[in-house]
Amino acid sequence: MPNQPQFKLIAHSEAMRDILRRIDTISDSDSSVLLIGETGVGKEMVAEYIHRSSIRADKPFVKVGLAALPPDLLESELFGHEKGAFTSASSEKKGLFELANTGSIFLDDIDDFPFNLQSKLLRVLESSEIMRVGGMKPIPIDVRLITAAKIDLRELCDRGMFRTDLYYRINVVPLTIPPLRDRIDDIPYLIQHFLDRFASNKQLHVSKEAMETLIQYSWPGNIRELRNIIQRITLFANTHINYSDLPEEIKSDNPIETLLKACNRCFNEDGMTLEQVVGCLEMNLIRQALQKSGGNRSQAARHLKMSLSTFRDKLKKYNLENE
Ligand SMILES: Nc1ncnc2c1ncn2[C@@H]1O[C@H](COP(=O)(O)OP(=O)(O)O)[C@@H](O)[C@H]1O
Ligand SMILES: [Mg+2]
Repeated sequence: MPNQPQFKLIAHSEAMRDILRRIDTISDSDSSVLLIGETGVGKEMVAEYIHRSSIRADKPFVKVGLAALPPDLLESELFGHEKGAFTSASSEKKGLFELANTGSIFLDDIDDFPFNLQSKLLRVLESSEIMRVGGMKPIPIDVRLITAAKIDLRELCDRGMFRTDLYYRINVVPLTIPPLRDRIDDIPYLIQHFLDRFASNKQLHVSKEAMETLIQYSWPGNIRELRNIIQRITLFANTHINYSDLPEEIKSDNPIETLLKACNRCFNEDGMTLEQVVGCLEMNLIRQALQKSGGNRSQAARHLKMSLSTFRDKLKKYNLENE
């Protein structure tokens, strides 16, 4: 198909390779998979990978963005409707479950699924039959279910917003896709992938400094943000991508600047000694490194080019041992 980018999933980090290995081990099963991860981490892409590597690969793959569908249309979109089921139903219509028959259906943003339809969805999954809106006879369907959530569904269950029985039904194989900042090994490969995709004719070279800055950035919008930024940069760059070509939000995410901002207090408070100011900076640096490493001390120490034992002493000194 023209304009349809090729399906290529980049996975160089250990975390992503591990996820793909686990998907390969369940490729001949029909288990429901729940993908969990922040927006932009690649849940939709992984869902497609699951389908493509499964025994249903040559059968339909239907994606449903639940957050984008108006709640009052959702039921008939998913399960279809008969002619005359409601005023605008001038003819019968197959629902997305029927279109996915024999293949897989991907329900994205399942955390947004309205509570009043959850029991109907559960019934469909349990019975492998759907009932169109306004319909009288059940229609058998055979679909493999893949869902994705950006927040912890257990918490929604505890708050009474998500049915626990539905949660168990969709959560047979849970796969957590880490945010991009926790798998920085993927970043250079993703950058190359998007350069090939958006500027294959240009042979752009990314300078060392620009690459380091892109790797250091925290990527709150994950791969979607990375893709958009690379696309934007390729519009203006001709041969090289240098630090100065990077958008402001990335340059200002520079760790030193963030650090100085966090330490604003030091510079505003009169009467702090040099030792106190330096101590405050050091404490913030350590805290930041810990946050970046997700609490992994050896990784944080390495990042600060410090031995683990010195790092431990500092944690004690600044009372950060519980962070
Ligand atoms: N591993 C990957 N390799 C290549 N591109 C990716 C990868 N993960 C995500 N993308 C791209 O990033 C964008 C966002 O991914 P998407 O799957 O829609 O994320 P999510 O569903 O978690 O919000 C898409 O353009 C997708 O093609
Ligand atoms: Mg998505």
